[in-house]
Amino acid sequence: MADETKELWTKVEQYFGDLLAPSDEGLDAALNANLHSGLPAIDVPRLLGKFLALMVKISGARRVLEIGALGGYSTIWLARAVPEDGCVVSLELSPRHVEIATSNLHHAAVLDRVDLRVGPAAESLAALHAEGSAPFDLIFIDADKSSYPEYLEWSLKLSRPGTVIIADNVVRDGKVIEPDIDDPNVQGVRRFTELLAAEPRLTATALQTVGAKGYDGIALAVVLE
Ligand code: SAH
Ligand code: DHB
Ligand code: MG
Repeated sequence: MADETKELWTKVEQYFGDLLAPSDEGLDAALNANLHSGLPAIDVPRLLGKFLALMVKISGARRVLEIGALGGYSTIWLARAVPEDGCVVSLELSPRHVEIATSNLHHAAVLDRVDLRVGPAAESLAALHAEGSAPFDLIFIDADKSSYPEYLEWSLKLSRPGTVIIADNVVRDGKVIEPDIDDPNVQGVRRFTELLAAEPRLTATALQTVGAKGYDGIALAVVLE
């Protein structure tokens, strides 16, 4: 898109962000640590972090599952929003990311509410199911996009009626509408959306987003009675 358009998106994001999702030490320190550790800057934008926190509050979620922690920026938003006796289980493939996330969560004073589990999320999800995990109230899917269909299947197994499921990065600059694109991420998101549509236990929508990180969007679903 034109540079002026992106500049406007960025300014509007800043306008609402400064008023409604203002910076604070814990969040800023996490973003700085991630940057200095060379992690890709693919943390959720702050207004999306605030959206996740609001969804936790609106749904009254106490048990939250996150798939894909990176440096724990979105995890901080989620962990701050659960009640004191609530928890966030966050699954992350990379031991290095888990190490950085642990430090960021400690610095933000929410580490006691977070259970970071290292390894391929599909294995951690199977283990959670096998250990008879109580259902989660809200699930945020944000790891490798090619596995979103599999993560949705596990999410349903770890849900109850009323569980909220949110998936990041489902628009990807609009590439989602290209059926023949040779990109496993886009194929994963398309298959995920088809599963959402076909699954009678779910009802869902998608929201397009713009800002400094470009044009993307989320899918939002709820498990039906
Ligand atoms: N939710 C984070 C961003 C996550 S980025 C935030 O907004 O702050 C995606 C993360 O998924 C990366 O850290 C990557 O290492 C992780 N990931 C990729 N493949 C994975 C897999 N198979 N299992 C678990 N995590 C995976
Ligand atoms: C990518 C992953 C994300 O979770 C994100 O928010 C943006 C980009 C990526 O893998 O490119
Ligand atoms: Mg993401």
